[in-house]
Amino acid sequence: MPISPILTGQATYPFVRLNEAATARRAEGLEVIDFGMGDPREPTDPRIIEALRAGVRERMGYPAAVGLPELREAVAGWVDRRFGVALDPDTHVIPTLGSKEAIFSFAQVVLDIAGGRDTVVLTEPGYPVGVRGAQFAGALVEELPLLEENGFLPDLDAVSPETWRRTALFWVNYPNNPTGATAPLAFYERLGALAREHDFVLASDEAYTELWFAEPPVSALQLDDWTNLVVFNTLSKRSSMTGYRSGFVAGDPALIAALKQFRPNVGTAPQEFVQRASVVAWGDEEHVGRARAAYAEKRRLFLELFDRVGVRNAGGPATMYLWTATSRGVTSEALATHLLAHGVIVAPGAFLGDSGEGYIRFALVPTLDECRRAIAILEDVL
Ligand SMILES: Cc1ncc(COP(=O)(O)O)c(C=O)c1O
Repeated sequence: MPISPILTGQATYPFVRLNEAATARRAEGLEVIDFGMGDPREPTDPRIIEALRAGVRERMGYPAAVGLPELREAVAGWVDRRFGVALDPDTHVIPTLGSKEAIFSFAQVVLDIAGGRDTVVLTEPGYPVGVRGAQFAGALVEELPLLEENGFLPDLDAVSPETWRRTALFWVNYPNNPTGATAPLAFYERLGALAREHDFVLASDEAYTELWFAEPPVSALQLDDWTNLVVFNTLSKRSSMTGYRSGFVAGDPALIAALKQFRPNVGTAPQEFVQRASVVAWGDEEHVGRARAAYAEKRRLFLELFDRVGVRNAGGPATMYLWTATSRGVTSEALATHLLAHGVIVAPGAFLGDSGEGYIRFALVPTLDECRRAIAILEDVL
């Protein structure tokens, strides 16, 4: 039976392995505190839930790929308040079913393999979906390492002229999963200029812009020139709405027009009741502030623990993740396996890319009580 070689050639999605290990431990009746995956467990604001309920009617037809005008306006309003940037709701923005599907399929929108634009450039360690989407679209994939000594920014000078010529799509993700690093506007300015010079598409995955603990991070939308630029954002982390599946893409109107043409083929318009809930979510900052404060408290407790036990937090000032250095000579998988034996799940950095070796990632999603219990365990075993 024909099955895509991309599928058969894939290793198990690393988090599946983590989940299996956790399930086995739970089956033995032992507690597992799961810092493995970044699925927020903060409650969704009741006003958002109410808007979802109120949005369900007796008959719901197919949602349109362009989304409800109210949602596009709500997104434009949020981008304006947050980044001081004016979007035209009709031409600069399109809603997505969470950002994962949009990130996955975006290579299909921009690749021109026959025309010589056959390469997707990404950074590693990182969120694996862009790579998977590029592979399924038949692209060549080039991964640039994110190294601590470069502030977890890719070395753009290391990209060859041949790669620039062939690049269709360049993905960046700041605030970064897994390193927590943020990027200055100057970084986006340089990449934006390169995108115009070499005519590739710059895609900025900004899923974590709202989870910050020092300065609010910038957006690539703050660039003066949006030529070849699109930004992906989502309510998943900001509003603890992973289960709703709601995000947006905004930027260069030519790319938004291409998405309006592409997306009806895929059938990924968000359900109307989800869009109505999303209008409420983008319009409110109070619940986001509460979530940020909850993460800040957990972050504080863990950073104090790391100080006490002499573990180095290598990561940056944003996201729900802590990117922690392992001791010299200890692999990330060995450390994660050791911690799992004591009931604490973390993601080994090596699962997230070759340059992730030497680090583990804590996703600060368990409750404050669970965090305190985990810290009591880690006090002895980290
Ligand atoms: C970097 C990054 N981008 C995008 C996403 C996708 O989020 P969603 O599909 O829930 O919007 C995630 C989820 O973990 C992520 O870590």
